[in-house]
Amino acid sequence: MTTDTAAYWEPLWAEGRRYRQLNDAETQLLDEHLGPGCARPALDIGCGDGALARHLHRELGYRTTGVDCSPSAIALAASQDTGPGLGPVWKCLDITADDLSALPDPAYAAITCRLVYRWMDDKPAFVDRIHRLLAPGGTFWVVTEVAGRRAATHPLQDLGITPEESEVLTAGWSVVRTADLDVLRCYALRP
Ligand SMILES: C[S@@+](CC[C@H](N)C(=O)[O-])C[C@H]1O[C@@H](n2cnc3c(N)ncnc32)[C@H](O)[C@@H]1O
Repeated sequence: MTTDTAAYWEPLWAEGRRYRQLNDAETQLLDEHLGPGCARPALDIGCGDGALARHLHRELGYRTTGVDCSPSAIALAASQDTGPGLGPVWKCLDITADDLSALPDPAYAAITCRLVYRWMDDKPAFVDRIHRLLAPGGTFWVVTEVAGRRAATHPLQDLGITPEESEVLTAGWSVVRTADLDVLRCYALRP
């Protein structure tokens, strides 16, 4: 089954499905690895309800765009902005298929991707697109569950990426840093 399309995600968001929320430990790691935005552009891919994009925009000071292929997710994210001009730009876009020139900026100082990489059907092509979008000296921040952290019988144990999928993600960067948080691994990747 294809899992990186609106056909897969839109019904889930529309029926009220929600995903693991950001917590302080994860946010602290993100802040340490990305640093202050100073109004540089950031892109959150698969932004869902927009919590991470809002953190980048409001707390770290990045000029942030959140994209998701699900119209319901984008509507939910936008509905949580309070006050005119205060929130990120929200855009309904399929990062695997749509023309990247539809994005507001040609390159981003920070690209984030939380609980999304596992669902990309063609992972090498996805990582290739990120390389094209990341500015020199930028950081690609990925948060994903890794295989083997849950009991083999756990109903969610297939949420983790395999060592081979981790290799696809991390090959081709000059700097690779990781930090573990229970079942999750955070990657900070630099060209
Ligand atoms: C598990 S949810 C995570 C949402 C959010 N990042 C979070 O941490 O709560 C995966 C998200 O990726 C989005 N997504 C999946 N494939 C996508 C694609 N090809 N382009 C853009 N977004 C995509 C889904 O719509 C969904 O919102």
